[in-house]
Amino acid sequence: MSLGSPGVAFLTGKRVLLIVSGGIAAYKALELIRLLTQAGSGVRCVLTEAGAQFVTPLSLQALSGEPVHTTLWSLTEESEMGHIVLSRSADLVVVCPASANILAQMAAGLASDLAGTLLLATDTKVLVAPAMNVRMWQHPATQANLATLRARGVAVVGPDDGVMACNEFGPGRLAEPPDILAAIAAMLGGAGDLAGRHALVTAGPTHEPIDPVRYIANRSSGLQGYAIASALSARGARVTLVSGPTGLDAPAGVERVCVETAAEMLAACEAALPADVAVMSAAVADWRVEREAAAKLKKRPGAKPEPLTLTLNEDILARVSRPGPRRPGLVIGFAAETEALLDNAADKLKRKGCDWIVANQVGHGTSVMGGAENEIHLLTASGVESWPRQSKHAVAALLAARIAETLSSRTSP
Ligand code: CTP
Repeated sequence: MSLGSPGVAFLTGKRVLLIVSGGIAAYKALELIRLLTQAGSGVRCVLTEAGAQFVTPLSLQALSGEPVHTTLWSLTEESEMGHIVLSRSADLVVVCPASANILAQMAAGLASDLAGTLLLATDTKVLVAPAMNVRMWQHPATQANLATLRARGVAVVGPDDGVMACNEFGPGRLAEPPDILAAIAAMLGGAGDLAGRHALVTAGPTHEPIDPVRYIANRSSGLQGYAIASALSARGARVTLVSGPTGLDAPAGVERVCVETAAEMLAACEAALPADVAVMSAAVADWRVEREAAAKLKKRPGAKPEPLTLTLNEDILARVSRPGPRRPGLVIGFAAETEALLDNAADKLKRKGCDWIVANQVGHGTSVMGGAENEIHLLTASGVESWPRQSKHAVAALLAARIAETLSSRTSP
């Protein structure tokens, strides 16, 4: 499969009705349409009046290949396809972005425009991807509307935390399109090319305690591992995500096991086996403090600080890669290096006994750890492939496609 190839169409035959409401995040609906059509799904779009202030019907039409519906009062549309038919001809209705206004409209059951009417008339499952200013999101009215919708069975993906267009920080940013795709795939059933497969993914840092209040850690945010878990789940895999401490929400449909230390991560990984594929993206601390102090270490005036005695943590990747009946068919490790990237990565591939290594340069000036983008080199038995710098979600989607292709070329689940 070539780089950037859409991969296997795991949503073939599915039909999504996408309602695009108003908000600066509406442009991301275009990316979602692209992902859905690449995955084989049909997409019909409804654009609200407010949504049309941010994206044009023409863009939605060009990407979906279908006429875009904007009004309740079109005579031709009513004769060709009434709004009831439109709402019932889909396997899933997705509202993306879902503004505070459309959530209120849904909660109140207002049929004041085409979107509201469809949402009231539908007997199909509904997924909303909220996006709005953080204060609007946190307002009790929005939260009450959301609770009402959830109680009625409406599924919700996001919002994420982050800097918003209004320069405020907090929850309210639209979930990333690949995560919305994963939520859609989870709701439409495991018809993906990884259906029936179990994937083990590790992500985030580990925290190794020094005393009850201090620990050794690293700068990993967990973003890349979470994106991989999400992308594998979107293709239908059952995913166990063993995560060190991060500020991230568990991706839709993924079973997350939260751990703190490397020893806990190892135990959780062993408990999660067997798996068809293991992707070990966690930045596991190499060392732990030999003896964790039972009480907070105190500085004594004039005395030198007590040296910390470190001891090596077991290598989880090497353990999971060990030959035996419980070894996953495909084991993928990561190599985060500040220098001699490819040499160090090739050495890790040999030393740890895994099948592939995803190598990336980290350290000052790369903004990879904690950042939204990654530039990776994939080392396999057939050589090295260098991928261009792209979002961690795009890296995850490509890696998941490659994993699906490799597993399906070997055996069926
Ligand atoms: N890893 C692991 N368990 C450890 C250490 C690392 O499973 N105790 C895994 C990581 O999840 C990653 C790979 O090994 O997939 C490489 O991790 P990295 O930190 O880059 O390498 P190290 O093994 O720590 O080697 P070095 O310190 O020489 O860079």
